[in-house]
Amino acid sequence: MAGHVLAIDQGTTSSRAIVFDGEMKIVAVGQQEFPQHYPASGWVEHDPEDIWRTVVATVKEALKKAKLTAADIAAIGITNQRETVVIWDKASGKPIHNAIVWQDRRTAQMCEKLKKKGLEAKFTKKTGLLLDPYFSGTKIAWLLDKVKGSRKRAAKGELLAGTIDTFLIWRLTGGKLHATDATNASRTLVYNIASNEWDGELLKILDIPAAMLPAVKDCADDFGVTEKGLFGAEIPIRGVAGDQQAATIGQACFKPGMMKSTYGTGCFALLNTGTDMVRSKNRLLTTIAYRLNGKTTYALEGSIFIAGAAVQWLRDGLKTIGKAEETGVLAERADPTQQVYLVPAFVGLGAPHWDANARGAIFGLTRNSGPAEFARAVLESVAFQTRDLLDAMKKDWKSGAARTVLRVDGGMVASDWTMQCLADILDAPVDRPNILETTALGAAWLAGSKAGVWPKQAEFAKSWALERRFEPEMSAAERKRKVRGWRDAVRRTLS
Ligand code: G3P
Repeated sequence: MAGHVLAIDQGTTSSRAIVFDGEMKIVAVGQQEFPQHYPASGWVEHDPEDIWRTVVATVKEALKKAKLTAADIAAIGITNQRETVVIWDKASGKPIHNAIVWQDRRTAQMCEKLKKKGLEAKFTKKTGLLLDPYFSGTKIAWLLDKVKGSRKRAAKGELLAGTIDTFLIWRLTGGKLHATDATNASRTLVYNIASNEWDGELLKILDIPAAMLPAVKDCADDFGVTEKGLFGAEIPIRGVAGDQQAATIGQACFKPGMMKSTYGTGCFALLNTGTDMVRSKNRLLTTIAYRLNGKTTYALEGSIFIAGAAVQWLRDGLKTIGKAEETGVLAERADPTQQVYLVPAFVGLGAPHWDANARGAIFGLTRNSGPAEFARAVLESVAFQTRDLLDAMKKDWKSGAARTVLRVDGGMVASDWTMQCLADILDAPVDRPNILETTALGAAWLAGSKAGVWPKQAEFAKSWALERRFEPEMSAAERKRKVRGWRDAVRRTLS
């Protein structure tokens, strides 16, 4: 059976394995959620063994559902929650601590100290990022500070560090390869995105031994083969990209000016800027969109920490809905004469505010506000936050972002109401593709094209198909009123 490719999508709340056939169609999906750990306020951890266990189990599940064996799979593509870090013992493969998750705020103070020393400009110039606890660098430094003896052992090469892709590659290859790809490296705060190498000066500032860092490869590259004993036959690993970059690829945003926004736990909008490393003056990130055949393509990124997670809060916290899908239906019933604003700063605010200490707030409640108004406020908060990103992008890159169309994906985009609301608030068209599994598709394409069983870039881009375009319908006056109210709510929420 030629051309089958398997994507491993290791996300924040679940691990998934998706089998695609030679026509790039999904034939089977395996999915498992795993526990989240919140050891202190603002801290978020994962047990790396949960991540590993669910990845192996979902690969087996997907193969079984597809009625295939490992020998039928031409290649594996890995995509993953970014920034989350693990440090493990090279000899035993055992992690020395739980993984510190991208949402974790424990290094807020460390970031403040570095900022006070006037170092933010240096980090931004070299990495395109900001001094925020979101990124991996300060998380690695924290682990080395807290786990006794670890810094010395790391310098001796006894401990290895990596983002989740790196940990998985290490485990899948039976400890034969310690590697990452350029997109994941670009989120660590210690990778120089202009020279494409780990930055000695930044490593020194954070006191991270270079010996513990992985080799950095292209996104479509040779990442070894899975150990035979794992799935019954060796499977070549040929593609790796952070999940937001994989979605950018899966959405075929290959030309400068093309943009995608993925609505998962958070929301991440990436605008392809080609070979231009556009430097943001509006607190966006400059990041690597992908590196193929040694050529780096850059993106401007707006990162919002809470999108779908606010829907989960309605479901699991407030219990006003039973299933996430009910949110749009409920929001539609909200009283149009009320305007409730939710600023979902549950773990601080990301772009363009970068306020690690802000916490969520609700404004505009009346005696009549109920579940429907809360549901609408949650969905609108996602649209307003995206609008803030788009405005910043337009200011940063006038020529490229002026009349862009937004390609959307992720769980939330299934709701027509939410997508119409997004187009209305953005005052821009929103394109929903036929395939919503764009993250997995992007990783699968990297692997499938490298393995020579899937089409090359141009042909792949042509296969992107529109399911529905949402055009803005809201009056300019209403949009202005709503956006003004949102900005006021955010201003009052900032710490
Ligand atoms: O930067 C964090 C991002 O990669 C997490 O994505 O889909 O796991 O919420 P997701």
